[in-house]
Amino acid sequence: MIRITRETPQDSAEVEYLFDLAFAPCRTALSSYRLRDGVAPVAELSLVARDDYDALAGAIRYWPVRIGEAGAPALLLGPVAVHPTRQGEGLGALLIADSLERAAALGWTRVVLVGDEPYYRRFGFTREVGRSLDYPPPTNPDRLLARALAPGAFEGVGGLVRRW
Ligand SMILES: CC(C)(COP(=O)(O)OP(=O)(O)OC[C@H]1O[C@@H](n2cnc3c(N)ncnc32)[C@H](O)[C@@H]1OP(=O)(O)O)[C@@H](O)C(=O)NCCC(=O)NCCS
Repeated sequence: MIRITRETPQDSAEVEYLFDLAFAPCRTALSSYRLRDGVAPVAELSLVARDDYDALAGAIRYWPVRIGEAGAPALLLGPVAVHPTRQGEGLGALLIADSLERAAALGWTRVVLVGDEPYYRRFGFTREVGRSLDYPPPTNPDRLLARALAPGAFEGVGGLVRRW
């Protein structure tokens, strides 16, 4: 059985290792990491999935960001990773669905991410919702996705996604 719990300081080194394994260590050179520099992840939404042997099977983190001149608050989803030996079992979906539910319960209304639309559309992320958003370069605009957690949350919201 898989248990999903909040990441603790004791989990952190293992989570970093999992992200390095899933993305290659140069992941921190990606433009989305500039949005994370010097900003703490949202603790309530940093989750780990562990199996019966307490092995780390997956992890997800979110960062707070602001959008446009008005500084509308939003969440940046990711990184999310599942251990290569556990991929395709639904753990990624479990982590994403659980964390989005927690985010909505905490009052967050907007979520953005840079990722594969064919994967994330099953969780309600689309390019359309994020069409008025810009992202720090270099970012492939086709990979900039967004989802409103409350009706109309992106109406009138646009511009550069920037550091909190
Ligand atoms: C992406 C990731 C988190 C998905 O987690 P997972 O537990 O393997 O995924 P799930 O079991 O929930 O879903 C599996 C389904 O997603 C599909 N899928 C996985 N990655 C995909 C991708 N990048 N694009 C399109 N579909 C993808 C699988 O083909 C499978 O499809 P099916 O349900 O039709 O068989 C995981 O594969 C991973 O850690 N990958 C490496 C890191 C990464 O790319 N993270 C996301 C950054 S955008």
